[in-house]
Amino acid sequence: MIEVTDMHAYYGKSHILQGVTMNVQEGEIVALLGRNGVGRSTSCKAIMGEVPPQGSVKFKGQEIAGKTAYEIANLGIGYVPENRDIFPGLTTRQNLTLGLKPGQKDGDGRWSMQMMFDMFSNLNERADVEASVLSGGEQQMLTMCRTLMGDPDFVMIDEPTEGLSPQMVQKVADVLKEIADRGISTLLVEQKLSIAMDIAHRVYVMGHGQIVFEGTPAELKERDDVRKEWLEV
Ligand SMILES: Nc1ncnc2c1ncn2[C@@H]1O[C@H](COP(=O)(O)OP(=O)(O)O)[C@@H](O)[C@H]1O
Ligand SMILES: [Mg+2]
Repeated sequence: MIEVTDMHAYYGKSHILQGVTMNVQEGEIVALLGRNGVGRSTSCKAIMGEVPPQGSVKFKGQEIAGKTAYEIANLGIGYVPENRDIFPGLTTRQNLTLGLKPGQKDGDGRWSMQMMFDMFSNLNERADVEASVLSGGEQQMLTMCRTLMGDPDFVMIDEPTEGLSPQMVQKVADVLKEIADRGISTLLVEQKLSIAMDIAHRVYVMGHGQIVFEGTPAELKERDDVRKEWLEV
């Protein structure tokens, strides 16, 4: 589905990504773990074309490195950034509508607005109020649902459980499973092992702009050395 090979990225002169190689297959949930500042969000932005990547990024076999974020989104990649970037002056419903692609109508894809409201009763109850009054957790849900409205085949979700209550974390986990059940590939970025260990099929650990471990959650559990060096604070 997505195949990243020797990807580099810079902010000015800072060489942030130093040869990232990873892949996500169809229907797979893959976790990208690592401490703050190691380059997880930059990896998402580079795949998405928001930061120019060097190296190769292939989506369904097609080279997308060098394309614009708009083109990449239209090819079927969704990105839920870590800052919940809702449109605060618009209602929940209007925010969801903005997730549709040009020419796409509600219900055309795998998801519909009604499904979002069925999954998240909080959003349903607040469908017609300004998104600015939603709680942090609800805004996170809304950002995720808005991205899904565009019917991506591959979605990158950046720290979706950050700052959420345990109950909301469980809801996020349920939606991630639902996403995978529908055959959508997911790159789940997290800082801690958290829900990633329960729901991911495979795990990458990043340190200093490179992948330092790749394996299954079970394999990572056995690797005290990796967890100590790259994950625990
Ligand atoms: N817009 C930016 N300009 C300059 N440096 C940045 C910018 N965004 C992130 N960085 C730096 O790039 C590194 C990687 O950041 P980031 O990808 O956000 O890490 P993570 O998501 O793993 O916490 C950090 O050292 C961070 O300070
Ligand atoms: Mg980040």
